[in-house]
Amino acid sequence: MALLLAIESSCDETAVAIVRGAAGRATEVLASEISSQIALHREHGGVVPELASRHHSLRLRGLVEKALAAAGTALSDIDAFAATTGPGLASSLLIGSTAAKGMACAANRPFLGINHLEGHLLSPFLERTAVPPHVALIVSGGHTLLLDVEGPGRYRKLGGTRDDAAGEAFDKVGKMLGLAYPGGPEIERVARGGNPQAYNFPRSMLQDAHLDFSFSGLKTAVLYTLQRAEGRVVVSDLAASFQQAVIDILIGKTLRAAQQAGRNRIALSGGVSLNQALRGALQAACAKAGHECVTAAPDFCADNAAMIAFAGLLRHLAGERSSLGEDIHPNLPLV
Ligand code: KG4
Ligand code: ZN
Repeated sequence: MALLLAIESSCDETAVAIVRGAAGRATEVLASEISSQIALHREHGGVVPELASRHHSLRLRGLVEKALAAAGTALSDIDAFAATTGPGLASSLLIGSTAAKGMACAANRPFLGINHLEGHLLSPFLERTAVPPHVALIVSGGHTLLLDVEGPGRYRKLGGTRDDAAGEAFDKVGKMLGLAYPGGPEIERVARGGNPQAYNFPRSMLQDAHLDFSFSGLKTAVLYTLQRAEGRVVVSDLAASFQQAVIDILIGKTLRAAQQAGRNRIALSGGVSLNQALRGALQAACAKAGHECVTAAPDFCADNAAMIAFAGLLRHLAGERSSLGEDIHPNLPLV
């Protein structure tokens, strides 16, 4: 059995997790601590990088101690240390990766630099024994990605967004509607009482054979609707119609991807996968098509360190390690 401690600090959540696992065994999450910065950035309407990195550096030590206490272990029991090294905000990535390298150095244990997107990608399988072949849809604030997954570390990109990420579209439309940051959960809340058919927003590229996404036309359509109505809209109907358009695009492309890749298992991850309407619609579509649907547990959808620890554990068990000289990579691609 190996114990791994991981740090996630790529954007505006400071997180530390400890997992325990071995090849062929279900990974146990012994601790998953998060210090959210949402309240800090809300008054600015978005993430302020310098505030984010300062918060990371102030909170990290306390979170590591809290995680060790929750897991009932000491630093000297940890077999390997991991941290997100990209993609993300440079100044934020540096705090977590430098802290993890420091601990690895002090404890004379290996360090593993982890791709944030690999963390999201693997999160639906976090407490399972294996990562079986599947098509993965990652929907977060910065990324919208479709991948064919053969197994851990074996990924092929099928499609991605050509402009805004799905979460970014939620956040921008939330702003247009005067909702608090981040817009995603606010739109979902407001949309609950609305009619998703009230506005017929465009489903860009849905009929095209390729597997890329575009959300900027949808975002502009919402803006024009708001401008034409001079603000006299039923916000719940507009939010529900926008959310339905995003769901239709995501599900349509994901089913097409499964068909093209010849997979009958679909996994959903990333912050936007917290959206209950999206989860429900994907589960229904998979049931209809005869696909297995695997979603990340709600605790592991938005940014967290457990998913980074799981990705790190799989790499550690495979005998990998990163150099302490490895830099952070703000634009690190997954494939
Ligand atoms: O994965 P994540 O926490 O961070 C990134 O790696 O980007 O995703 C954050 C994104 C934000 O855009 C946020 O608005 C969106 O996830 N989000 C949601 C919901 N909860 C979070 N979008 C739609 N519905 C939600 N319930
Ligand atoms: Zn993320």
